[in-house]
Amino acid sequence: MGKKSIGIGLIGLGVIGGQVAKVLTDKAEVLAKQVGCPLVLRKVKVLPQDLTRPQAQKMNSQLFTTDTDEFFSESEIDIVIEAMGGESPALEYLTRALSSGKHVVTSNKEVIAKHGAELMKLAGQQGVGLRYEASVGGGIPLISRFQYDLVANKIGGIYAIINGTTNYILTRMAREGVDFSLALTKAQELGYAEANPENDIEGIDATYKLAILASLAFHTEVRPQDIYREGISRLSSRDFQYARELGFAIKLLAIAKEDDKKFEVRVHPVCIPEDSLLAKVDGVYNAVLVEGDLIDKILVFGQGAGPLPTSSAVIADVVSAAQEIFLGMSGRAKWELKSGKVIKPMSDIETRYYLRLNVADRPGVLAQIARVLGDHRISISSAIQKLADPVAETAELVIITHTAQEKAMQSAISEMACLTVVKEVSNFIRVEALG
Ligand SMILES: NC(=O)c1ccc[n+]([C@@H]2O[C@H](COP(=O)([O-])OP(=O)(O)OC[C@H]3O[C@@H](n4cnc5c(N)ncnc54)[C@H](OP(=O)(O)O)[C@@H]3O)[C@@H](O)[C@H]2O)c1
Repeated sequence: MGKKSIGIGLIGLGVIGGQVAKVLTDKAEVLAKQVGCPLVLRKVKVLPQDLTRPQAQKMNSQLFTTDTDEFFSESEIDIVIEAMGGESPALEYLTRALSSGKHVVTSNKEVIAKHGAELMKLAGQQGVGLRYEASVGGGIPLISRFQYDLVANKIGGIYAIINGTTNYILTRMAREGVDFSLALTKAQELGYAEANPENDIEGIDATYKLAILASLAFHTEVRPQDIYREGISRLSSRDFQYARELGFAIKLLAIAKEDDKKFEVRVHPVCIPEDSLLAKVDGVYNAVLVEGDLIDKILVFGQGAGPLPTSSAVIADVVSAAQEIFLGMSGRAKWELKSGKVIKPMSDIETRYYLRLNVADRPGVLAQIARVLGDHRISISSAIQKLADPVAETAELVIITHTAQEKAMQSAISEMACLTVVKEVSNFIRVEALG
């Protein structure tokens, strides 16, 4: 108790680091009141090219260093904020900071998803905190929900829209009837998608975030490679049109469920009832539906990215760490993750399915398809047929099934593709009831 100030070291002065530095200055007075003493930025680790950026120009140049050893030898730093991103050298920097007894705050989902368990262990050994609220959902308080607010619950499931770029693209496809490539181009023009959008559209970013949330929710180590993943690029505007006719919206969901001591962890496009709350989460917004034995369901909604919301989460973590240091508490909450989890293979999951087939436009086709599905114990819940091409005499058949096992559905799809009346199995999307 009684420190006169808390020293901050910042690594990375990009979009998030720059905004965090600004908030530390702009809100210095109010933050000092929350903590009990001022938060003082002592050093900023940058790359040479960062020095010409506008945020750097507004700051005291004495704070900057491009030398990693100089940064880590600054004895006045109590809390290291990592806002540079990526796996390496961020992992080495975080390890070095924790090993030298500094509290760490990071917004880096990749490093936490891949190495969170080992970093948490190290933080525990050193009696310091590792905080990463900004790593999932930007400004939406999510990590603290699982670490504190929901601890009394046994979490049954998480259904999350946690990638704003893909949600923006899917919203445009649904509203304007445009195809994926055009919606992606628009997202890039507006700065919602990067020039190389692979991490977002292939669901990689969402698997990092789901790994973090599922590990917290189930107190067990879930890594990105444990998660089944499909992106959104094979969705067509017709899928949205037919899904709507059948009462569904299409979203990229990150799903984690616990069932019979086995976990389902998957990221893929999903048809969800159009009257469900998640179906109404549009544009770049994120939302996470959590099911727990005591809470039943909660939905957390907000801006999942952007410098202002993300800086809110980073600063909240900094204040929490600073309060701990000021009060002389050490390593308040330790998050031990169990290992030895059993992840259900994708082939064992059970869900309903949306199927879009291009078929010969003649009587008896639906009966042949129903027979293949029936052979795999899959029954049809509803079907619609549209005339697609009068010249080729083909039609588009869209089917929603009752619940079936994934491996049965995959076998049925392979068999259907061999029927002479089936020109193409154009798409299939899993369907979630969301309670
Ligand atoms: N942007 C968001 O809305 C958002 C939301 C939530 C979480 N995050 C996470 O926050 C982190 C930062 O994201 P960002 O959007 O701020 O990225 P960014 O604008 O690219 O900022 C990262 C900065 O770190 C610098 N950097 C790279 N390697 C460095 C090193 N070895 N030492 C010092 N600086 C280094 C980069 O320099 P160069 O550009 O010269 O390489 C860049 O200026 C990422 O983990 C990201 O996933 C971002």
